[in-house]
Amino acid sequence: MTRLNQLMFSSYLLVLLTACGSSGGGSDGDSVLRQQALAAKKVELGELLFEDTDLSTPVGQSCATCHDSDHGFADGSVTVFSPVSEGATGAFGNRNAPTASYASLVPEFNYDAGAQENKYTGGMFLDGRAHTLASQAKGPFLNPKEMNNTDEGAVITKIANATYADLFKEVFGSSSLNNVSTAYNQVAEAIAAYESTEEFQPFTSKFDYFMVGEVSLSATEQRGFDLFNGGASCFECHSENQKNVESKSLLSDFTYRNIGTPSNPNLILPSPDLGLGSVVNESSENGKFRVPTLRNIELTAPYMHNGVFETLEEVVRFYNTRIIDQCGSSPFVGCWDEPEVSENVETQLLGDLSLFETEEADLVAFLKTLTDGYR
Ligand code: HEC
Ligand code: HEC
Repeated sequence: MTRLNQLMFSSYLLVLLTACGSSGGGSDGDSVLRQQALAAKKVELGELLFEDTDLSTPVGQSCATCHDSDHGFADGSVTVFSPVSEGATGAFGNRNAPTASYASLVPEFNYDAGAQENKYTGGMFLDGRAHTLASQAKGPFLNPKEMNNTDEGAVITKIANATYADLFKEVFGSSSLNNVSTAYNQVAEAIAAYESTEEFQPFTSKFDYFMVGEVSLSATEQRGFDLFNGGASCFECHSENQKNVESKSLLSDFTYRNIGTPSNPNLILPSPDLGLGSVVNESSENGKFRVPTLRNIELTAPYMHNGVFETLEEVVRFYNTRIIDQCGSSPFVGCWDEPEVSENVETQLLGDLSLFETEEADLVAFLKTLTDGYR
């Protein structure tokens, strides 16, 4: 169902319910319909919240500013030279905004003490500091480098004065906006409901149609696919077998790794970004970031947590040659700077893949089949 259909359907259900109610319905079927109608309203509310540029201080920025559906739900205004999003006050954060698409399918943050390696998996933000999608949505409104509201009360006051305040009360109850802390949780719940719709995870890329045998890949895409799942070892982390929904893959195993991403000299940080290490306070996790989904990757440049790479060609060249072409004491054109965090860097799976240039191009061609909207 498209969004519009969904809304029309929900209004239809409400009319139907009212009709049933007056003829003395009240069966279980009624309450199922009522719940479905309410769920659709919650999604509608979530979309309005996600797109409301009045919810920043000063006004002008919404979630959609940095997670734009025209740019794979990432920030279309950033570049390798200015790799992080500008907040509502003009301040800059320290990370390149990732796509918000498919985020609802990332498993919750988990710690497995018994695991041999990669004890941490899942969670939101590149370092896992929010455990679920709804808890993630509570962060940006109050982050001084993002939407910069002073406290939860300021956000709820704005919502109480918004055109959709009545819709909020319809979904969460007539007095819902009177209690700041429960209302703030409900804001997050509605946004998460919207982020969990098909609009954010359409699975309409060429890759998806290929996986069910409806289209074939071009020769270069097919070679890229084979390399991805074979000689180039990408699948070891961007696992194609890690099925998430109805055997569709997000191309991530959701582990945390340090692939040796160099610092971005255009991003001045007080200290290196330790990623997961600073969240769990363990040096054995320093420099590790959650393996990202590769869906819509063509649309979300620049790449990596610090936006250091401008193109997919550069990313693939990095995987191919990071170890063999290190700048070291005698830098040369095209060499790689040392990792931003030198601890825990992967040395087995990447950095010396011995791929030919044509094979690098094949991998890039394959990555471009992951863009939604092929049909
Ligand atoms: C100023 C730009 C900006 C705004 C505004 C913003 N975000 Fe983000 N978003 C980011 C950045 C940067 C990250 C990664 C931050 C990190 O890892 O520390 C992120 C991460 C996320 C993620 C996690 C994705 C993942 O794979 O872990 C989701 C989901 C998300 N944002 C949704 C939202 C929602 C919902 C809002 C509005 C309430 C919002 N964002 C507002 C920049 C922004
Ligand atoms: C050892 C695990 C591992 C392997 C193997 C691996 N990746 Fe990654 N990949 C990651 C991690 C972790 C990141 C995020 C790193 C960061 O932000 O600094 C990443 C990031 C990326 C990005 C950028 C994503 C974004 O949104 O900015 C692309 C593209 C990518 N990988 C493609 C590939 C390809 C193609 C291969 C095979 C040649 C590959 N990866 C092999 C772990 C891996």
